[in-house]
Amino acid sequence: MEVPVIETRGLIKSYRTGEHAVPVLRDVSMSVHRGECLFLVGPSGSGKTTLLSILGCVLSADSGEIRILGHDVKHLNPDEQAEFRREKIGFVFQRLNLFDALTALENVCIPLQLLRWKKAASVSRGKHLLDLLGLGGLTDRNVTQLSMGQRQRVAVARALAADPELILADEPTASLDESSGLQAIATLKDLCRSLGKTVVVVTHDSRIFSFADRVLTLNNGQMKPSVHTDSLNAVRMDTNTPEPMKKAA
Ligand SMILES: Nc1ncnc2c1ncn2[C@@H]1O[C@H](COP(=O)(O)OP(=O)(O)OP(=O)(O)O)[C@@H](O)[C@H]1O
Ligand SMILES: [Mg+2]
Repeated sequence: MEVPVIETRGLIKSYRTGEHAVPVLRDVSMSVHRGECLFLVGPSGSGKTTLLSILGCVLSADSGEIRILGHDVKHLNPDEQAEFRREKIGFVFQRLNLFDALTALENVCIPLQLLRWKKAASVSRGKHLLDLLGLGGLTDRNVTQLSMGQRQRVAVARALAADPELILADEPTASLDESSGLQAIATLKDLCRSLGKTVVVVTHDSRIFSFADRVLTLNNGQMKPSVHTDSLNAVRMDTNTPEPMKKAA
């Protein structure tokens, strides 16, 4: 059987504030399979960003098992973790975290510089990705001179630059209006599907839930059973159905 891209068992995480340890993740077990587009939803403060940071090897859990792409990442040393992250994981951050002083292309090339790619190869890769995202004409534009939707696409191109197998996106539509948000998630999903990437999206944005293959809900640090999008859509359609039609059905 194929190894899951993400597999966790019994993850526990607390933050220490002064004397107290505040529990944030309580026994989180989950699996994500290759090519899946998983959405992670839940109320503010439920632990979504914390979990995403642990999946992205940016943060460590206090206990529990975690394997990313079959690797027991907990037992890598910090340098090995950083290298693993740069090669295998692409991040789209909520605030995008683009470098304002740089152009779109320069921003996209940053992960490749960290992996010590030659300049010509990284420029060619960056241009290719910006082209794929419809920004071919804006490669040399400073990112401060782009619209929010265009900046978001630069962030997606940067996440894909090193050809990582796993993309983690934290609230990728948070700063976009409805139509740019829908377009952004559609582009992210289509591109990841065509390139065979696995995607985990943290979101509050119910307008985009239908793009998920599966939805997991975190509530107060605990994972609720998964919902497949088909049943989610059925629930939503049922909720939206006017009363008389429901009665007639
Ligand atoms: N570095 C930290 N130190 C202490 N507590 C923290 C830290 N980071 C997060 N927390 C707390 O942990 C809990 C979970 O935070 P987290 O950011 O994971 O939630 P979230 O589900 O992503 O919320 P949101 O939807 O608002 O982004 C919150 O109560 C938060 O205040
Ligand atoms: Mg968060």
